[in-house]
Amino acid sequence: MTRIGVLTGGGDVPGLNAAIRAVTRRSLEYGFDVYGIRNGWAGLVEGQVEPLSMRSVSGILHVGGTMLGSSRTNPFKRPDDLEKTLNTIRALQLDAVVAIGGEDTLGVAERLYREHSVPVAGVPKTMDNDVWGTDYCIGFDTAVTTVSEALDKLHTTASAHHRCLVVEVMGRHAGWVATVGGLAGGADFIVIPEVPCTIARMCEHLRRRYAMGKRFSIIVVAEGAEFGDLATSEDLGEKDAFGHVRLDRRGLAETVAREVERLTGFETRSVVLGHLQRGGSPTVFDRVLATRLGVRAADMVKEGKFGYMAALQGNQIVDVPLSEAMSKMKTVDPALYQLAEIFY
Ligand code: F6P
Repeated sequence: MTRIGVLTGGGDVPGLNAAIRAVTRRSLEYGFDVYGIRNGWAGLVEGQVEPLSMRSVSGILHVGGTMLGSSRTNPFKRPDDLEKTLNTIRALQLDAVVAIGGEDTLGVAERLYREHSVPVAGVPKTMDNDVWGTDYCIGFDTAVTTVSEALDKLHTTASAHHRCLVVEVMGRHAGWVATVGGLAGGADFIVIPEVPCTIARMCEHLRRRYAMGKRFSIIVVAEGAEFGDLATSEDLGEKDAFGHVRLDRRGLAETVAREVERLTGFETRSVVLGHLQRGGSPTVFDRVLATRLGVRAADMVKEGKFGYMAALQGNQIVDVPLSEAMSKMKTVDPALYQLAEIFY
C-alpha cells in the first residue's frame, strides 16, 4: 500500500485547497493512503498529520486558504528538527511527500530529496509567481485579479479628488503582481524590484502627466522595490526561518506618497493592499491550474518519479527537476514591463 503525505507551506494563496483536493482525489483513485500534514514542514517536525478521504476534501475547491494550515517552518534550521522530520516520515512509512509551496517550501523538498533521499514531488504556489520553470504558480492569477479590481476602484476616487494614489502590492524579489496587476488596472507608473527607479524620475513623469492635463495618477509599487534616492532599508527587525524580513514594516507606500507630495505639491494618498491579495475564492484559472498540477504530482508518485515539480509551460503540464526550479528565481520579463510603460 502506497502512503502519501501532502503539505502546504509558506504564505497561503487561494487555490491551495484545490491542489490538496486534486492530489488526494487522484491518489485515492490509485488506492493510496493519503495523509494531510498540518502547517507545512512543522507538521513533520511535530508529527501532526491527519488521514484525508473523499469526504475530508469535499466542498473545498472554491475555498481560499488551506485546510491543512501553513507555516514558514524550515526543518533545516535546527538539526533536531531535521531529525524529527525524517523520523516522522519513517514512522508514518510515507512513500512520498507532496510539497505545495513556493521557493522556500520547495527548496526544503529539494534538499530532503538530494541530501536524505526523501521521495518528494513539488507543486508550485506563490502569489509572487517567481518560481523558475513554471509560467504560472497557483495563487498569482487570483492575486492580480484582486489588484486590478482594487485599481478600478481607486481610479474613481483618485479622479474625483484629483489626487495621486500610491498603491503597494506584494512582491518581495519579483514584481510580477505589480506589473501584471498594474497593466490590467491601468497603472500610470509601476515600480518593481527588478527595474532601478528614483523618486525624482517618477515625479518628473507625474509632472509631465499633469502638464498634459491629467489630474490624477495611480502609482503601483511592489513592496520589495527600492528607490535610488529614498532610504527605506532601516532595521526591519527579526528575520523568519528562511531569512526574510517583514516587508510590510517598511511602510514603503506611505514614505513614497509623502515624498511625491513634497516634491510635486500634488495631493497624494497611500494604500497597502496587503493580505487581501491572498484572500477570497480562487479564480477559474487558479482552480484549473491547481487541479492540473495536483493531479500530475499524484501521477509522479504513481510512476515513482521523485525530485520533480509539476509545472505549467505554455499550455502543457511538464515535470521540472526541483534542482533546476530552485537554481534561480523567475523575475519579470522586461518586455512585459515595457508593455505596461507604453500606457503611463
Ligand atoms: O511569499 C509571498 C508573500 O506574499 C510575499 O510577497 C510577502 O512579502 C510575504 O508573503 C508576506 O507574508 P506574511 O505576511 O504571511 O509573512
